[in-house]
Amino acid sequence: MKIFLDTANREMIERWIPTGIIDGVTTNPSLLSKEGKDTRQVLLDICEMVPGDVSIEVVKKDPVDVYKQSKEIAALADNVVVKIPFAFEYLPVIAKLTQEGVRINVTLIFSLLQALMVAKLGVTYISPFIGRLDDIDVNGLDLIHKLVHMVEQYSFASQILAASIRHVMHLHESVLAGVDVATVPPKLLDQLMSHPLTLDGIRKFDDDWKKLGKQELLGAK
Ligand code: E4P
Repeated sequence: MKIFLDTANREMIERWIPTGIIDGVTTNPSLLSKEGKDTRQVLLDICEMVPGDVSIEVVKKDPVDVYKQSKEIAALADNVVVKIPFAFEYLPVIAKLTQEGVRINVTLIFSLLQALMVAKLGVTYISPFIGRLDDIDVNGLDLIHKLVHMVEQYSFASQILAASIRHVMHLHESVLAGVDVATVPPKLLDQLMSHPLTLDGIRKFDDDWKKLGKQELLGAK
């Protein structure tokens, strides 16, 4: 299972990459808008910093422009995945791009049947949004379970990328559902790092060790 960082912030990426647990990054226009005006440079830096896939979303609207911009985005770096929102008018664009070998992440997926359509087109990632479904009183995790089952049942090549993960249980349940990827905001990853029992355990080991007085663990050679 892969863990992506859900951010466009270079400092956050710099902080997490050395841990070795990050397999990629997802960005979107909202995340990018927080990082200043030179979005091209921000994106180039991210692609260079991240060893795995970096999803970059199109901002054009007309299907012809979406196709053109997708090609430009894909040419930025080898690890780029082009993110395109689900829409009827973009299906032919997505079909053409996948045939041309461009890797696509279809975003803003809110139903099983939307996911089925784009799985049929051979996209690399399908991004269902858990938190935004919960926001409207629909169980987002139910959709995750259904998508994992659907992809396995029909042996589609697309990977399920759990997105809009807002809290620990979203991530916990996504893992149990068997998602291929979970994209996690850095703030949430930070929360996962400290467990009260781990902190207590370290404190107790330290206290017990100090009872021996000043001593080297392996003694003198
Ligand atoms: C990532 O691919 C999505 O754009 C992101 O997870 C959306 O999260 P949000 O619903 O919290 O904005």
